[in-house]
Amino acid sequence: MKTNIAIFASGNGSNFEALVNACKNGIVAAEVKLLVCDRPNAFAIERAQRLCIPCMVFSAKDYASKAEYEQLICEKLQACEVDLICLAGYMRIVGETLLQAYKGRILNIHPALLPSFKGAHAIDDAFNFGVKVFGVTVHFIDENIDGGVIVAQRAFEYHGTSRDEVEAKIHAIEHELYPEAVQAVLNNI
Ligand code: GRF
Repeated sequence: MKTNIAIFASGNGSNFEALVNACKNGIVAAEVKLLVCDRPNAFAIERAQRLCIPCMVFSAKDYASKAEYEQLICEKLQACEVDLICLAGYMRIVGETLLQAYKGRILNIHPALLPSFKGAHAIDDAFNFGVKVFGVTVHFIDENIDGGVIVAQRAFEYHGTSRDEVEAKIHAIEHELYPEAVQAVLNNI
């Protein structure tokens, strides 16, 4: 039976689209059941509409607490029989409610080689530090920010001076590595 995936995104959604396509092409033996998005203007929503993926959009400010909106998300995930969550540019810290409900079943993609350059500005931080090896990490999440067991990493050397070039290379790697890592996880469950 196919695994059902939900993808969480807050912005552009290029990794969301890469995962949807990988599922459609059989690179990942799963079905993307839902996009969860916390920003009503996110481009990821337009992608979901084009790709015919149902979308749950919410604004955190409409809820009294993280627990409250995460409870609603959990109900939606259960209604869609979601087995695995893939965070793809989701700019919120996942709280106890979701972590407990999907313990060991939430993946994230981070645009740096963890444990270096944790946080929301990893590409800028790595570039400004002047590293010569950049990369991408796919990992399970736990209660520590950008912590959790690493599933896959891919590195590349860059000696140039263009931050945009680094970012483009990172995204190109992400779009290959995330589907591969998801399939590797599926092979082990
Ligand atoms: C990616 O660089 C990912 O590593 C980070 O957020 C970015 C999302 O990009 N967590 P996109 O929205 O998938 O295009």
